[in-house]
Amino acid sequence: MINVFQPCLGKEELDRIEKVFASNWLGKGAINTEFEHGFADHLHVGTEHVFTTNCCSEGLFSSMHMFEIGPGDEVIMPTISFVGAGNAVCNCGAKLVLSDVDPRTLNVRAQDIEPLITPNTKAIMMIHYGGVPCEMDEIMALAGKHHLAVIEDSACSVSSTYKGKACGTIGDMGMWSFDAMKILVCGDGSVLYFKDPEMKIRAEKWLYFGLESKSGYSNSIDKKWWEYDVSSFGHRAIMNDITAAMACEQLKKLPGFIARRKAITELYNSLLGDLEWLDLPLPLPDYCTSSYYFYHVQVKADGHRDLLAKFLRDNDIYTTFRYFPLHRVPHYAIQGSFPNADYAADHTLCLPVHQALTDDEIRLISRLIREYGENNDL
Ligand SMILES: Cc1ncc(COP(=O)(O)O)c(C=O)c1O
Repeated sequence: MINVFQPCLGKEELDRIEKVFASNWLGKGAINTEFEHGFADHLHVGTEHVFTTNCCSEGLFSSMHMFEIGPGDEVIMPTISFVGAGNAVCNCGAKLVLSDVDPRTLNVRAQDIEPLITPNTKAIMMIHYGGVPCEMDEIMALAGKHHLAVIEDSACSVSSTYKGKACGTIGDMGMWSFDAMKILVCGDGSVLYFKDPEMKIRAEKWLYFGLESKSGYSNSIDKKWWEYDVSSFGHRAIMNDITAAMACEQLKKLPGFIARRKAITELYNSLLGDLEWLDLPLPLPDYCTSSYYFYHVQVKADGHRDLLAKFLRDNDIYTTFRYFPLHRVPHYAIQGSFPNADYAADHTLCLPVHQALTDDEIRLISRLIREYGENNDL
């Protein structure tokens, strides 16, 4: 079976984990700090803006708390969003307002958001689909005009940049995922970014019981180090040093991962580019870089995307479509017209992309896609 996504871990990660075992400190500690600093460097931001948490979904949920969003407020997001983003909004009692997207990039555009803004709109929660940056200048201008918070779900955009800035650091808050299916993986983990360092301090407390100071060995010997100083009520959502150890090693490998994913994208482009029945991903604007998280094609003929996915699966090739539009999830009970997202949801297929994928496998996948087209007169 050729996987659509696959982690890429090795001896370096295992060796690092072994050292964590030997240290007898498995919880959040020095390795976490090392990762936070390394990731801040990677983003070209100061450490006063970032910290780790246990998963990106926690970041999505926390964003509602940090921007004081609740009943009576509205949050706009593209209908092609991760289900956790929709849940975060609904869970806090705010109204989920879904927008359409660009039919080819599946990214949300300012023009999709603007008509949905009301006096109750508090935030735009957006995603850079497959690691390709949205047109951020336009979205930020719109948000500025209406005083809206911009939350960038950058789960897929670990190395994406827009006009020289890391995706996730352009809006007011950003979050990245290091779960098992991402590019930089550590099982589960995330970094949160806050433009406002004060908000970062509050968020970090919120994700550790609202504790003002850490109890335990780091406390002064003059104090009773077992006492708590709770200033607010919060969650417990931290990354531990085992996952951070993996993340530190993965971060070193990240440039190589991205280079391989770019080469995979280019090979698919060259092998599939002449198939007129298929739309390939659009070229990247020269002021953006991508993380090449998805390679999504669009089968123009109605009904054939599903059949192509089944044909590939019969041949042991696993593909998928991300993200099933939230307006089609009955539980959200959203009315509206989303023609581009509907087109995308019925025609788009994400082909396998991961660092371990070989050129021979890409040739096999491409040959089978070609064969499918020939067998079906496409
Ligand atoms: C776009 C997007 N946002 C958020 C998440 C949540 O990430 P995590 O698994 O770290 O909670 C995912 C995970 O698949 C995702 O794809």
